[in-house]
Amino acid sequence: MTEETQIEAPKPRRPRRASKPRQPRLPFPNDLPLLPIRDNVYFPNLIFPLFVGREKSMRALEETLETHRHVLLVSQRQIDLEDPEPSDLYEFGAVAEVLQILKVPDGTMRVMLEGVSRFRVTKFLQTDPCFMVRGVPISEDKSKDLEREALMRSCMGQFENIVNNGRNIPPEAILNVMNIEEPGRLADHIAWYLSGLRVDVKQEILETLSSKDRLEKLGVLLNKEAEIIEVQKNIRSRVEKEVGDNQREFILREQMKAIQQELGERDERMGEIDEYRQKIEECAMPEAVAERANKELARLEKMPYAAPDGVIVRTYLDWLTTLPWSKASKDRIDIEAAKATLDADHYGLPKVKDRILEFLAVRKLTGTLKGPILCFVGPPGVGKTSIGRSIARALDRKFHRISLGGVRDEAEIRGHRRTYVGALPGRIIQGIKQAGTRNPVFMLDEIDKLASDFRGDPSSALLEALDTEQNNEFSDHYLEVPFDLSDVMFITTANLLDPIPPALRDRMEVISFSGYIEDEKAEIARQFLIPKLLNDHGLTPENLQIQDNAVRRVIREHTREAGVRNLERELAAICRKVARQVAEEKVDRESISDDDIQEYLGRRRYHYGVMEEHDQVGAAMGLVYTEFGGDVISIEVSLLRGKDGRLTLTGQLGDVMKESAQAALSYIRSKARYLNLSDDFYERTEIHVHVPAGAVPKDGPSAGITIATALASALTGRAVRKEVAMTGEITLRGRVLPIGGLKEKVLAAHRAGIRTVLFPAENDKDVDDIPQNVRDEMCMVPVRHMDEVLPRALEERAEPRVERETIA
Ligand SMILES: Nc1ncnc2c1ncn2[C@@H]1O[C@H](COP(=O)(O)OP(=O)(O)OP(=O)(O)O)[C@@H](O)[C@H]1O
Ligand SMILES: [Mg+2]
Repeated sequence: MTEETQIEAPKPRRPRRASKPRQPRLPFPNDLPLLPIRDNVYFPNLIFPLFVGREKSMRALEETLETHRHVLLVSQRQIDLEDPEPSDLYEFGAVAEVLQILKVPDGTMRVMLEGVSRFRVTKFLQTDPCFMVRGVPISEDKSKDLEREALMRSCMGQFENIVNNGRNIPPEAILNVMNIEEPGRLADHIAWYLSGLRVDVKQEILETLSSKDRLEKLGVLLNKEAEIIEVQKNIRSRVEKEVGDNQREFILREQMKAIQQELGERDERMGEIDEYRQKIEECAMPEAVAERANKELARLEKMPYAAPDGVIVRTYLDWLTTLPWSKASKDRIDIEAAKATLDADHYGLPKVKDRILEFLAVRKLTGTLKGPILCFVGPPGVGKTSIGRSIARALDRKFHRISLGGVRDEAEIRGHRRTYVGALPGRIIQGIKQAGTRNPVFMLDEIDKLASDFRGDPSSALLEALDTEQNNEFSDHYLEVPFDLSDVMFITTANLLDPIPPALRDRMEVISFSGYIEDEKAEIARQFLIPKLLNDHGLTPENLQIQDNAVRRVIREHTREAGVRNLERELAAICRKVARQVAEEKVDRESISDDDIQEYLGRRRYHYGVMEEHDQVGAAMGLVYTEFGGDVISIEVSLLRGKDGRLTLTGQLGDVMKESAQAALSYIRSKARYLNLSDDFYERTEIHVHVPAGAVPKDGPSAGITIATALASALTGRAVRKEVAMTGEITLRGRVLPIGGLKEKVLAAHRAGIRTVLFPAENDKDVDDIPQNVRDEMCMVPVRHMDEVLPRALEERAEPRVERETIA
């Protein structure tokens, strides 16, 4: 128990006037028993209780009871001293009259005291068995003036403010204080009420004898106190608000739970969570992914049911739980069976099929399907996509195809981060999900049509997916967890090799598809397209027969392509019309020959690539390779009277073609004498080269020797032989350089009825690719130099022509 401690709110004495008259005070002597006080300072004119427990103090009280009933209360400098020495005590204290003593059963005392006067100790008379001291009472400064009045009022105001805002001063204290008229006493009272003040601070007030000084000091203290209260208030309101918010949320949540339960939703909710939990377990994710999924699930669980974020988390969990993390189809690498499947689905393509089977054989022996990615390059409609499908069938794998045409955003491949509204994984992960296994045959179509712009380069994302070294940890922005693509068999397709970004091209094994010749197309139509179309249109071979000559007419006059897609479309149109007639019961059996084609498909659509009717002056047949396969074009040159050999070029010309024309002209100039041209022909002639717009040549330079031939023909007047076509790049000195797509070009020439093809000798190796039956009918002439071209292409003699003479 604490001793000599204030135990209740102090009760300051009522002002004299207000209280009933009391007995005159007993005088007190200068020698007094002293009670050391631990944690407070007492002032005159106050009544207060005190617990006394220390032996010495109780002796002191007992001493005084017999005589004058006064004790001196002096504070200790240090609170924790149990048995203070005189030096541990302050010099100033308050003399108090003992009003009442109560002995408590535990041996201590409860004393009621009334402060009487300030007192200063001058001498310690004894320290045992209790302190006895000698000193002098100090009379109060009772002077009054305006300044003191002002100070009093200001202190009172501040005090009132503190009481109103503070917590531990009873409101009646204001009333008590208001009635005090003496400045010194007012200061004493207020100081006494400020229970938070430290002992040494209160002691200073006690020791300040001038009432003015005392009020001033008090003013400072009150100011500080007010500030402290303000700060406390702020802290308190902050804390209260926080606690309040939490509680509010808690209460609302509980209410919501109750409402949900009432509506039967809670069970549904828990059902959903459980369902996800089960799914996570079932789909056998890698550990890291499961961890991630569980974390998201925990998040979902904590969310209110209808929280907007909930949708995002659910979608994400749906993705994680539906991806085939460990679901794979069992591979069947049986080369014989694979060959049978490929043959059953596709006509011809022996080289392609062999390459594919070799590829599979290696995979079988190495035990994995890792390795270079296959890239099928060739014109449209030659079966690239469909043979990919066959490979999947042969391997017993799922097949999925995406088209990369026009994809210019990296996010399309790799997904959007989840922070985007409506974010989804990229096409690769979407494809895997649709395939439903982690090892499908995955076809990336039109990889040559990838674009790239400010939204990032999709090819870099593809690179990561295709690179067997790193695609076991393919990172999709949306998924955030890596997905293992290493068992996916990627196949890419492209129409042209050139536009494929080199880094991608490097990782792929290119298999080229060339166009089909007419015979092949006819065979494909007979064996594959027509049976398939009949089936698709609900017809039988009894209902409809399309004769071979009809197919050939469609090929020749209604399509112009390297592949068979348009052929298929035109044949489908025939099937549709017949199907309608059959359905209307107009016919039952129909046999279509070439004469019927116009009736079904309308007038012939294409007149391309036919040999000229006559030998021509100034027009040579060139062979070009376009996106649609090979074609025959006629390059025309005409000469006009003009100045400085100006060269005008019109038609479908790339920059490369223009350079070829310049080179061709330079060659002809250097050969002027040999060609029997006057040295200055060039100064009086303007030359116009025209390349018809029929096809967009992809390989400009290969028209070089054709331009030169047409030029030479125009200048010399020697006609170009109509049965000759040519291809080859030309240098300034007339050397003939190799070109691409020889097979396609020769097929086009053959189709056009041309039987002699001049081609760069360096392309000799490509001749083997040309189907034997075509080669048998063609005269293939390898050339190294223009000097060899002109004699083969031009007639011996110039035709006498009026215009020519006027020029030359
Ligand atoms: N050799 C073939 N045997 C049987 N059918 C074929 C053959 N070549 C192509 N086809 C058929 O031609 C159609 C077009 O083929 P596919 O879609 O595979 O062309 P593609 O090469 O992928 O063209 P693109 O470059 O335009 O994508 C398909 O119906 C396909 O079955
Ligand atoms: Mg395709």
